[in-house]
Amino acid sequence: MSKPEALLHIDDLMTFMDASSVNFLAIQTIRRRLEAADFERLDQSEQWHIEPGGKYYVIKNDSAIFAFVAGSGTPAEGFRIISAHSDSPGFRIKPNSEIAAPGKTLKLNTEVYGGPILYTWFDRPLSIAGRVIVRSNDPLHPDHHLVKFERPLLTIPHLAIHFNRAVNEGNSLSRQKDMLPVIALINDAAEREDYLLNMIADQLGADKADIIDFDLSLYDTTPACLVGANDEFITSGRLDDLSMAYSAMTALLESGDCRMTKVIAVFDNEETGSGTKQGAASPELDYMLRRICTCLGGREEDYMRAVANSFMVSADNAHGIHPNYPEKQDPTNHPRLGGGPVIKINANCKYMTDADSAAVFRVICEQADVPYQYFVNHSDVAGGSTLGNILTSQIPLRGVDMGAALWAMHSVRETASTLDHEYTIAAFNEFYNC
Ligand code: CO
Repeated sequence: MSKPEALLHIDDLMTFMDASSVNFLAIQTIRRRLEAADFERLDQSEQWHIEPGGKYYVIKNDSAIFAFVAGSGTPAEGFRIISAHSDSPGFRIKPNSEIAAPGKTLKLNTEVYGGPILYTWFDRPLSIAGRVIVRSNDPLHPDHHLVKFERPLLTIPHLAIHFNRAVNEGNSLSRQKDMLPVIALINDAAEREDYLLNMIADQLGADKADIIDFDLSLYDTTPACLVGANDEFITSGRLDDLSMAYSAMTALLESGDCRMTKVIAVFDNEETGSGTKQGAASPELDYMLRRICTCLGGREEDYMRAVANSFMVSADNAHGIHPNYPEKQDPTNHPRLGGGPVIKINANCKYMTDADSAAVFRVICEQADVPYQYFVNHSDVAGGSTLGNILTSQIPLRGVDMGAALWAMHSVRETASTLDHEYTIAAFNEFYNC
C-alpha cells in the first residue's frame, strides 16, 4: 500500500462512529451497511439455505452480529474470520432510576458497565440510547425497539474546585455518589414519577403501560473529529473496538471472491469478560461455523477439517506509546500511533498470538505493503486481555490478536491515527483476499 495520501475511509469511519452510540446501535449500523450490500438475514430459529458465494448475516440479542460470504470452495477449506466487539465501557441506567435531588434537580441512578475512566465523563453533553422492550401478544416474545435521543439530555457536573482544593492531587470517585447524571429541573418530587419512562414513550410513540423494560446507556453526544496539524489523529468515543469492527466490516464488503468462507464476528460484552450468550465465551461462533459447513453439504469430519484449515484475526485496539508516559511501555516493543497494525503478544497466553500466527499476520501486512509493529506488556504491568483466547476455548482456531494503537483506552473519547485506520483496512482486505 502506497502512503495513503487519500484517507479513503476516515470520513466514513466518523459517520459510522457517530451513528453507533452504544452496542445496539453499532449492530444496527453494521446491519444497514450489510443490507445495502445485499446481505441476507438468517434467523437462528429457522432452516438456513446457503449458496456458495452467497452473503448472509445473523444477529444475536440485537447486540452481536455475524456476517459471512460463503466460500466457493469445499466446506472443508474452512474460514477466514475477523472478530471484534460492539460494547464499550460506560454507564447503564438502572430500573426505577429517578432520584429527586437538592436544588430541585432530577438525577438518574446508573450502574457502571466495564472499566471506563470515570472522570472523563464529567461535564459532557450526554444523552441516552439503547434498547426498549415493548409488550406484545406473546409473553415470550415481546417487541424490541432501538431508541436514541439525539439531543443532549444529561450532564454529570463535577464538584467545583473551591470545595475540593486537592482535586488535582488525585481524587478517588464513588460510582454511586459522584457519577450520577442530572436530567432536569423539577418543581416537586411528584414530577419525578416515571419521568424517563414518559420520555421513552414519547420518543417511541408507544403507550407507557406497554414499555416493560429497557437496556439503556449514556453516551457522549460530541461527534467524532480529526485532530492534529495534519489530521494525524481521529478522536471519538468507542474507537475501542468499533474502529476495528468498522475495518472488519469494510474489508468484508470490499474484498473479492474467496474459496474459503469469509466471516466477521462482532461480539458483545467483551468489556465484562465475554460471559453472555452474545459474548465470545459462548459457543455461538462454533454453532454458526458448524452450521455453515453443514448447510454447504459438509459432514462432521468436514467441519473438523474446516477448523484446522481456518485462521482468525482477533481485532481489538492496542496501547500506543504515550508521549507523557513512555515508561509504561516495554523497552523494546512500544507501538506508536501511525506505525501500522499492532500484533499483540503475551507469554501467559492472554492473547491467542504465537510465533506461527504472528508470522502469518506479518506476511499478510508485507503483502499489503502495510507496516506492522508489536505490543508486549512492560513486565511489571499487568495489561489487558481480549476475546481471542476466550474464543479458542470454544473453537481451537489458529489466530492472532492485533489492533490499531490508541491513546486513552476507555476514556469517553479515545485517540487513534488516521493512517493506521487505512493500514488496518488494507491488511484485512489482504487477509480476505484468498
Ligand atoms: Co477492546
